[in-house]
Amino acid sequence: MATTAFLAEHLVDPEVHASGDPHALWSWMRANDPVSWQPPGELPGFWSLTRYEDIRAVYRDPHTFSSARGVLLRPARLGADPGGGMTLALTDPPRHKQLRALMADWFSTRAVRDLEDHIRAACRAVLARVAGQGECDAVHDIAGRLSMYVIGRIIGLPEKDHELLVRWTDEAFEAGVSLAAHQELMRYFIDLMDQRMAEPTDDLLSSLVTGTADGELLAEEEILFNLENLVGATENGRLALAGGLLAFLDHPDQWRRLQRDRRLMPAAIEEILRWTSSATHSMRTATETAVIRGRRIEKGDRVVLWIPSGNRDEDVFEDPFRFDIGRTPNRHLALASGEHFCIGSTLARAELRILLEQLLDEVGPVEPAGPVARLRSIAVGGPETLPVRIAARHGDAALPAEA
Ligand code: HEM
Repeated sequence: MATTAFLAEHLVDPEVHASGDPHALWSWMRANDPVSWQPPGELPGFWSLTRYEDIRAVYRDPHTFSSARGVLLRPARLGADPGGGMTLALTDPPRHKQLRALMADWFSTRAVRDLEDHIRAACRAVLARVAGQGECDAVHDIAGRLSMYVIGRIIGLPEKDHELLVRWTDEAFEAGVSLAAHQELMRYFIDLMDQRMAEPTDDLLSSLVTGTADGELLAEEEILFNLENLVGATENGRLALAGGLLAFLDHPDQWRRLQRDRRLMPAAIEEILRWTSSATHSMRTATETAVIRGRRIEKGDRVVLWIPSGNRDEDVFEDPFRFDIGRTPNRHLALASGEHFCIGSTLARAELRILLEQLLDEVGPVEPAGPVARLRSIAVGGPETLPVRIAARHGDAALPAEA
């Protein structure tokens, strides 16, 4: 048990996620202590779940495992998450269902299909800025910019302001602070909200200001928290895009495989999601006593689901530490499961596909251009910076030889 305590302590050390090997810890925990108690310290005490089946079962039981008291570990001194009971991610059924219904239309398969031309154009614009200009940072200059151009459009920001969103989210991301701490962004959202209240149009923000839950309009605070949550959640999309590029740079054979056989695209996207698992954990709070693998979880206990661990569970995935774009089946948990299954899942998949298609069809080789830094975080994982060089676009200049 001393080993367990040692490992669990390292698991919540952001430095281990930036420069260590959290997978070594998770592998040990899956094999030896899959339901592991971490006593309180700077963080409150919590149970760690590391096996696929346990993680999935908790996701699928929102009545016993509530999201309303927060879904991310935060230091005890900060108290409860201020968005608790207000944002989509931090509400339980039945209110969660009503909130989700207000936003679901903007993320449906049909909505994303209608948005494809915009995503493609955004992708071209983003790649055009960096192609042929030498070195760029794929996290900020490609993945981040693309994610913000797309979510900006869905929320209803005028196109001229999409770059502002890129700047604000970059600044928050770099400083490691929440978006709500960014006063300029919040002021901007308040102005936009006021405009939509006066004159609703056809965008997600208008749905939030005109829609009701439990028969009442949402409070302004709720709308703002939900906007912040939506923009913040796209950070996962940014990391999956950048992490996907990194996975291919690390596994050039898999890139050539995709070049040769485009039918692998859907499986490649699922493998990128599994491999990158950019959401590192989800937290739940037990609403009643529960027993998992013989361990008794008391009412009020926090339970932390380590998603990258579930996605490398050797009982579920054959050769889980191999990046294999032909992997099938691939029922990963990167986008969660059950009631809170990622609302942006179809969008995230479309962004990944369109970016890869453009890199394959329209842009020359992407080459590494320097050391990769990983994020110092226990909430999201992936590259913090990914220096790459992208060749000039077809037609702009001679295309370097194919990789
Ligand atoms: C590949 C990229 C993405 C990954 C890995 C990812 C992962 C996740 C996960 C694990 C959850 C469950 C959180 C929990 O309940 O504890 C979630 C929920 C959510 N995601 Fe994503 N996400 C991605 C992209 C996006 C994008 C692009 C959006 C765009 C808005 C988005 C918006 C949301 C929202 C709003 C929720 C809360 C849904 C609910 O509670 O009903 N995500 N996501």
